[in-house]
Amino acid sequence: MKKLVFLFLLLAHMATAQDINIIPKPANVQVKPGNFTITKNTVIAVKDKDDRDAANFLNDYLQQVYGFKLDIKKKGKKDYIRFSTRKPSGETAKDAYTLDVTKDGVSIEGATHAGTFYGLQSLIQLLPVEKNAALVIPAVAIQDVPRFDYRGMHLDVGRHMFPISFIKKYIDYLALHKMNYFHWHLTEDQGWRLEIKKYPKLTEVGAYRDSTIIGRYPGTDVDRTRYGGFYTQDEAREIVKYAADRHITVVPEIEMPGHASAALASYPWLGCPGTGPYKVEGTWGVFDDVYCAGKDSTFMFLQDVMDEVLAIFPSKYIHIGGDESPKANWKTCPLCQKRIAEEGLKDEHELQSYFIQRMEKYINSKGRTIIGWDEILEGGLAPNAIVMSWRGEAGGIAAAQQHHKVIMTPGSHVYLDHAQSAREDSVTIGGYTSVEKTYSYEPVPKELTPEQAKYVMGAQGNVWTEYMSNPAKVEYQIFPRMSALSEALWTAPEKKDWHDFERRLLTQFKRYDLWDAAYSNAYYDINADVLPTADHQGITVKFDAKEDLGKLVYTIKGKQAETGYTAPLVLNQTSQVTGLYYKDGKLVDSLTVKLDFSKATGKEITLSTPPSETFAGKGAFTLNNGIISKSGGRGPETLGYEGGNVEATIDLGTAQQINNVVVHALNSGGTYVYPPKAVEVYGSADGKTFKPLGAADSVSQVEGPKAIMKVDFAPATIRFVKVAVKNTQTVPEGKRGAGEKAWLFLDEIEVN
Ligand code: ACM
Ligand code: ZN
Repeated sequence: MKKLVFLFLLLAHMATAQDINIIPKPANVQVKPGNFTITKNTVIAVKDKDDRDAANFLNDYLQQVYGFKLDIKKKGKKDYIRFSTRKPSGETAKDAYTLDVTKDGVSIEGATHAGTFYGLQSLIQLLPVEKNAALVIPAVAIQDVPRFDYRGMHLDVGRHMFPISFIKKYIDYLALHKMNYFHWHLTEDQGWRLEIKKYPKLTEVGAYRDSTIIGRYPGTDVDRTRYGGFYTQDEAREIVKYAADRHITVVPEIEMPGHASAALASYPWLGCPGTGPYKVEGTWGVFDDVYCAGKDSTFMFLQDVMDEVLAIFPSKYIHIGGDESPKANWKTCPLCQKRIAEEGLKDEHELQSYFIQRMEKYINSKGRTIIGWDEILEGGLAPNAIVMSWRGEAGGIAAAQQHHKVIMTPGSHVYLDHAQSAREDSVTIGGYTSVEKTYSYEPVPKELTPEQAKYVMGAQGNVWTEYMSNPAKVEYQIFPRMSALSEALWTAPEKKDWHDFERRLLTQFKRYDLWDAAYSNAYYDINADVLPTADHQGITVKFDAKEDLGKLVYTIKGKQAETGYTAPLVLNQTSQVTGLYYKDGKLVDSLTVKLDFSKATGKEITLSTPPSETFAGKGAFTLNNGIISKSGGRGPETLGYEGGNVEATIDLGTAQQINNVVVHALNSGGTYVYPPKAVEVYGSADGKTFKPLGAADSVSQVEGPKAIMKVDFAPATIRFVKVAVKNTQTVPEGKRGAGEKAWLFLDEIEVN
């Protein structure tokens, strides 16, 4: 009996695996009886001075969150937090660690010093998430090891600039997620942000723009306030040191040959003759003002810049951009054309390849390796380059197949500038990437063989800041998706589990509060799944929300007052339905779905060509789900095609008389988004033989970022409608980015 009581007491004091809320999830956690409490008397024991950074990090964290620090000593017999590091055995030692908590103290042992530091991060996540609680830690034994060697976060400081204090905070966020690379995007069309002593105008001129657009591109207005700033070399060195103390490498990015407006505004001789004047840009997008590839002086300049960059940043990897570099100026520049002829290059793509290879050679000669965006594949890859795959995974796959190392950053999953709520709650660049989608990211594409998969170093979240003008907005965009990404990078795939992550995420939200970090609550949004009915005669709207929040009701405008929601709603005419969520009698959240019915709505639809991975909406049904997007954003209600045509075939179910087809598309030339060049409509009785009904080759109506094309025809009675949408294909002459692939974004197809 006594034994039983003892066992009961023991169990009552035992945490369960359910109480351990570490993100990213460790490889192995064993919960033991008992616990350990950190008090002001607890001693941090550090034998090896290289583990002092872990001890300091812990003390800073304790001070900031709980208001006290601990003594750091060489040894601790009882009441200790002990850090030690095994010497890495062999060159392949991964940054593994073990963490043991007993009633006497905490022992963290890393295979490397980085491993010890990661053990500390797990310890931090065993601490309570209430500021005033006793620091009771459950007794556990953890063994853990990272999956990928490259676990990164990027930050664009060109579009908006952030103070050094925030850069440090950002690096702390990386450390808290066991991430180890900070990709610092330092130069842009809108601002050059790093002091270069040999070229002072880069920051005197290039670091400042005279205006910034307001709102979504192309902007509702212009803010005429001068904007800018830069980091001195001393500040950059301070950041390198700060990061190194947290086992994080800073990878600087100096963009070339594109995104160079600020450099050209500073030193106009860097551009192709006759293409100026240049300015530090106050709006977003891609600009034709690129470095001239025909002048040797361009390369001398960039080598000089690199000399200073390499002296500041010890990173083995140096990012030199390579993305979005329009060829318009090179095509007409006599110097660039001369270079093409002399070097026996085929075209401007090979000239870009020449540019990158020439810079690679220089950077390799200094013992460093270049990273470039996936455009560096075009025209031939530089021999030793690492490819950062951003336009989906294709670039990463191609590079790995060529035995080049790759870092995966596909827009579809890890562009943290995309909206994370289906209802855009602030202006973002577009897209829709939920925390669940980021969590689901698998960095090794299934197209790779196991041998090729070894070239995948890892992945990175990208944070482009056109629509993030302050630190809080950056935090809002990265959290909680960065936490989800950290698990995709650290945790073995067989250990990943979305529902278990959701459970731990609830604690993570409280940690964000402890850190005073802004974050998105989109995870709690009411969700509406809008789907065709099984018989394709209508639409169902299924509302849901996170269970423990409260009570869900719905209304149908003009038809149905607030009614308890119990089952998906079935609709077959134009309607406006709203889901409302109440907690303790208070409205927490609401979501309105406006459905505009045409004869096509909810019917079976097939596409000849899938959209881009990044802008895949909700599949083919995106085009006839009755939802016509109002914002003109590239959100979940649109399908994006980069070049290429698409045919949508809709089965109306029965033969019906139809008179016209209306195609809703997006229109934003400055970001290469053009309305269809033409729309052709065909009809068929059997879905096999189609006859032309009508066509349109001009836009009927433009409303800001939206364009409508209407095709009228003689009334026809048919069952199958095929709508062939022709892409503009290339950005027209005289427009920004002329000659680049044009994007087609489709929102909805009406058949009336
Ligand atoms: C990129 O997003 N332009 C690399
Ligand atoms: Zn040129």
